[in-house]
Amino acid sequence: MIWRNRDDLVFGQYIIRKAEPRDAKGIILCMQSVMDERVFLVSEYYLLTERGEQDRIRNPDDMTLVAEFKGDIVGVLTLQRGMYRKNRHTANLGIAIVKEHRSRGLGTELIKNAIKWCRDVGIKKLNLEVFSTNTNAIRLYQKLGFQEEGRRVNQFTIDGNYVDDVFMTQFL
Ligand SMILES: CC(C)(COP(=O)(O)OP(=O)(O)OC[C@H]1O[C@@H](n2cnc3c(N)ncnc32)[C@H](O)[C@@H]1OP(=O)(O)O)[C@@H](O)C(=O)NCCC(=O)NCCS
Repeated sequence: MIWRNRDDLVFGQYIIRKAEPRDAKGIILCMQSVMDERVFLVSEYYLLTERGEQDRIRNPDDMTLVAEFKGDIVGVLTLQRGMYRKNRHTANLGIAIVKEHRSRGLGTELIKNAIKWCRDVGIKKLNLEVFSTNTNAIRLYQKLGFQEEGRRVNQFTIDGNYVDDVFMTQFL
């Protein structure tokens, strides 16, 4: 990997960088393509409009990283910092990579950069939630230092089967 501009990271054929408001549409398309698979994320429709997504990107308590491939956004990582004084030391992480671009190291690279940002801004506890059926994602999170903190059993159903909501965390 090499750094291109001040904030851009070149990773193979991908550019990893912080999202800008102009990325809103690409982010929505990327997220929606993963939501359409129906088995990885709770929501099946991206709830923000393009305008709403631009506002989210501008929010200094949110940090969004994108992976760009030939001008298209194919990976999105979001960090949402706790909005209250009592939980400002925490952040929640979400990640989605378009199917064709998985298992190439992008998830690892995005998460490593997100952890770095968390450390830089003083976040002490990084949280995420994942379906118990998403074993690839869980293995990746464990590899990168997350541990299971607890779970809500049978919290969801996917295609008629119960699925646990696994809470994973890492202390920074
Ligand atoms: C979960 C997810 C974010 C992981 O991202 P990813 O880019 O596929 O993950 P990576 O490629 O970094 O790592 C996954 C595997 O690919 C392998 N890999 C990593 N770099 C690689 C490379 N350069 N070439 C080939 N394989 C590679 C790794 O071996 C890793 O497997 P391992 O954990 O057994 O070592 C992605 O699969 C995804 O978006 N899934 C659908 C949405 C989702 O589940 N989101 C999370 C909801 S909580």
